[in-house]
Amino acid sequence: MVVSFLASGQGSNFLVVAKKIRSGYIKAEAGILISDNDAPALRKAENIGIKAFRVNPKDYESKTDFENEMASLLKRCKTDLIVTAGYMRILSPHFVRTFKNKIINIHPSLLPAFSGRDAVKQAIEHGAKITGCTTHFIDEGIDTGPIIMQAAVPILPGDDASILAKKILAKEHRILPESIKLFCEDRLTINGRTVIIN
Ligand code: GRF
Repeated sequence: MVVSFLASGQGSNFLVVAKKIRSGYIKAEAGILISDNDAPALRKAENIGIKAFRVNPKDYESKTDFENEMASLLKRCKTDLIVTAGYMRILSPHFVRTFKNKIINIHPSLLPAFSGRDAVKQAIEHGAKITGCTTHFIDEGIDTGPIIMQAAVPILPGDDASILAKKILAKEHRILPESIKLFCEDRLTINGRTVIIN
């Protein structure tokens, strides 16, 4: 089982997963990391000896060409599972179909609440008392795919977006590796919208 990553930011989720692959806790091999910008995630990958590629959408005439380049890099290393770990672009239906039920995303809210961008800010502005994070398979919608795991985080008086994002990130670092471990052990069955954990 080869696990590869798409990341646009710090790459802390990537690093947690990569370390658990290295330690043998997740029975898989790390494939490659691709970033769409000059993100710290690229350096984190290189520092631990995982091949990192920057694929800049501006270098391609169309989104299709850009995604085709990513797809060919992912296929070249025989990727079985793609983890979008803070990847900030929407994948096209074509890309999603190419890797059907083989892309896991982490999102910083309890889906289906607060999908899309700025999920942490959305939860605060809505006045929610509880938010959290969700791992899910990516389907052709935005943050709509079958949910694998969720963890809740209370929103306390005085929490601003940056404080709350840190608390949520700590939970992301728990549920993302667990979800990937289950996938790699072939313990996830998708039944309609429901993911059964065997
Ligand atoms: C996470 O909160 C993720 O849910 C969000 O972006 C953040 C990425 O953090 N979409 P990192 O790059 O894994 O550190």
